[in-house]
Amino acid sequence: MIQIPRGTQDILPKDTYKWQFIEARLHQIAQDYNYSEIRTPVFESTELFVRGVGGSTDIVNKEMYTFQDKGDRSMTLKPEGTAPVVRSYIENKMQHDVNQPVKVYYIAPMFRYERKQKGRYRQFVQFGIEAIGVEDPLIDVEVISMLMQIYKSFGLSNLKLYINSIGDQDSRSAYNEALVAHFKPSIGEFCSDCQSRIDTNPMRILDCKKDRDHPLVKQAPRIYDYLNEESKAYFEQVKINLDALGIGYEIDYNLVRGLDYYTHTAFELMSDAEGFGAITTLCGGGRYNGLLELLDGPTETGIGFALSIERLIMALEAEGIEIPKPQGIDLYICTLDDASRTAASRLIHQLRAEGISSDMDYKNRKLKAQMKDADRKGAKHTIVIGEEEMDTNTAELKNMSDGSTKQVKLEDIKVLVELIEEVGS
Ligand code: HAM
Repeated sequence: MIQIPRGTQDILPKDTYKWQFIEARLHQIAQDYNYSEIRTPVFESTELFVRGVGGSTDIVNKEMYTFQDKGDRSMTLKPEGTAPVVRSYIENKMQHDVNQPVKVYYIAPMFRYERKQKGRYRQFVQFGIEAIGVEDPLIDVEVISMLMQIYKSFGLSNLKLYINSIGDQDSRSAYNEALVAHFKPSIGEFCSDCQSRIDTNPMRILDCKKDRDHPLVKQAPRIYDYLNEESKAYFEQVKINLDALGIGYEIDYNLVRGLDYYTHTAFELMSDAEGFGAITTLCGGGRYNGLLELLDGPTETGIGFALSIERLIMALEAEGIEIPKPQGIDLYICTLDDASRTAASRLIHQLRAEGISSDMDYKNRKLKAQMKDADRKGAKHTIVIGEEEMDTNTAELKNMSDGSTKQVKLEDIKVLVELIEEVGS
């Protein structure tokens, strides 16, 4: 038997309502914050991620689904959404759009070849936003406030927001030098990844899952001490304005994020709900001031975040929050013989065209089993059609919530629609 690829999942019909509910909420909140949807391809040139996300990151080194297409070009299924959005911004010259800053969001599958673990998938759906074209602490605050609003709107409360500043390029270089001096003498005690990170990207040592508890990680210099005055002032403004909105946060000086493009503000939202599991990051993001230029674009800057719907659902389950189940159908027609089946098929055909959700039996079940089927489908009304109903062209419309019935003419679609809609759909 052919099985589903490791690290992927089928979202079955019994569960899709959760996704639809969440996605509708995300579209709504994005609109409230005046972000417009952008859709970019599922695959991009591999070089976009090597340059954009960074050649020394785990994503690029270990996790990309890369393939040669038939024209012998190297392509990659997108592992994240920021580099593609920035590519599109540059290609479509969005710096000249009348609406500035450019505020976009996406809901799209991402692909990372990760070790399978609870909350870690090889295909997952990210909701992400990007605000490109301004460098203003208030837009950083807007982005963070939107992500908090998303989680709060679902009723989640076991949340912890961590923020940090990675500073500008100068601060980052000074800090990297300090880290090399700190770790180099004992780098032999670290994992093989960290032994190469010391040369390619020393900040990533702070974020290594294997060496997290090494005493030198705990004693490492703090990035805050290497921020220049401008970077410190920017970070101060972000904090002051988060405070003004009453958004609580903790500063985590070791928060450096796993992608190379970040500068200044970086943040992650974690769940500390019991039963959530080991992977507690719900959402991550930050500012990327050099990314556009790195991808041969204009000197514009951006900020954004991304969350996965899979982990959002895990958080909801951990906190016992249920997504409302969809309503049942408006009408189920039970039939007693072949002639009435044809009449029922015609009737639901007409009613569906009027926006009445309806269904009937297709498995030749006995009346009792059909009523059970109607119940399973949450039917708000039922009609039974047999020989007598066919002869008189009338039937009883039964309201399933209170058991009341009304005589209806089978060809009088308008009246039927009115009666059904009276109960509310
Ligand atoms: P990221 O931290 O790599 O950032 O991913 C963001 C979120 O995607 C994570 O916090 C997590 O919720 C989810 N995620 C990542 N990997 C997996 C996985 N294997 N399975 C399930 N969920 C996962 C980015 O992708 C950046 N592009 C975010 C960003 C946007 N920064 C600026 N703008």
